[in-house]
Amino acid sequence: MTQRTVYFIEGDGIGPEVWASARPVLDAAMDKAYGGSNSLDWVELLAGEKAFAETGEYLPQTTMDALAKAELAMKGPLGTPVGKGFRSLNVTMRQAFDLYACIRPVRHFAGIESPVKHPERVDMVVFRENTEDVYAGIEYASGSAEAKKLIAFLRDELGADVDPSAGVGIKPMTEKGSKRLVRRAIEFAAREGRESVTLVHKGNIMKTTEGAFRAWGYEVAEQEFAGTCVMEGEEGKVVVKDRIADAMFQECLMRPEQYSVVATSNLNGDYISDALAAQVGGLGLAPGVNMGDTLAMFEATHGTAPTIAGKDMANPGSLILSGAMLLDHAGFGEAAELVRGSVEKALAARKVTVDLASQIPGAQQVGCREFGEIILAGI
Ligand code: NAI
Repeated sequence: MTQRTVYFIEGDGIGPEVWASARPVLDAAMDKAYGGSNSLDWVELLAGEKAFAETGEYLPQTTMDALAKAELAMKGPLGTPVGKGFRSLNVTMRQAFDLYACIRPVRHFAGIESPVKHPERVDMVVFRENTEDVYAGIEYASGSAEAKKLIAFLRDELGADVDPSAGVGIKPMTEKGSKRLVRRAIEFAAREGRESVTLVHKGNIMKTTEGAFRAWGYEVAEQEFAGTCVMEGEEGKVVVKDRIADAMFQECLMRPEQYSVVATSNLNGDYISDALAAQVGGLGLAPGVNMGDTLAMFEATHGTAPTIAGKDMANPGSLILSGAMLLDHAGFGEAAELVRGSVEKALAARKVTVDLASQIPGAQQVGCREFGEIILAGI
């Protein structure tokens, strides 16, 4: 018998509602798939408003200590407390646990209206670097003393000519950061039998950052996965190729079936994962995970939706599908398939939450709780 501990954070706003719907679905899928021989052991950790109410802190040390030793975690959305001096709790956790890969699978669910003719051709998993590039960006405002100093340094020491009135920014990208992200993407593609990994970059313009990402990515493929990867144009297991970011956006719309796993830097990944999710009409269902070398934190990609919190209107689908990703990652693939299948059935039955009802012709609107019950019944 395998029991895996999953630490969970309910989250703020709609968090408790979507949790109440999601967790029974995951437990039921485990039960159905393994009849009690494998199970999840849920351990709650406090963060956000609930933590503040109980402990006076938004991110208690006990939560951080538990996560430091954890492998599996799942969280609802956390609001960023308003006021000076508060860092986003999400960013704090991502940095503290070095969750360097933000992974988002994007596919179409039958019945959901999409802005494109063939949304079903999209089946991609985006690996977005989560710690460098603009996330580690250093910026100085136009006219500030810091900007002036930096521009003077560039001119005097490096002979680089920058307009003295410019705002300036630095985006650092390292070999270590780029390689570990690409390594993860290739490992995933090989394990899942995916046919390609595409390195998406803007290396034609930003040669020492984005261009270096491309070069380091190919280095990983050639040096560490020689038996697994081939380059474009060759026959083999996982094809590693690259596309310039702007061309990739065209490809996503015109030939999405030619792309499977995407490995990219922080800013490109931000754009591409949202654009793809919108392409399949699935922003409200998009799941995700932020992963480091030990901890994987699965989470809904939406926020706390304060205007509908407590009104039984939220769509729990994103958290439920994030849970399916967790099951896959933990080696419970049969349970994960049950969860995804049940979401598909619920959408086909066209009894859905308000956000989806507007995207599914002829749909009947139900609340968060009822939608969760329909998915649960489908297991
Ligand atoms: P949001 O995702 O909470 O809301 C955007 C829109 O989508 C709203 O109209 C909302 O009602 C709707 N929506 C979101 N999730 C939904 C669901 N499950 N079912 C139905 N409708 C849904 O984004 P917003 O308003 O920018 O942020 C609100 C708060 O959430 C902020 O404090 C922000 O910092 C936080 N946030 C947290 C995230 C996280 O914990 N990963 C991610 C994004 C935002």
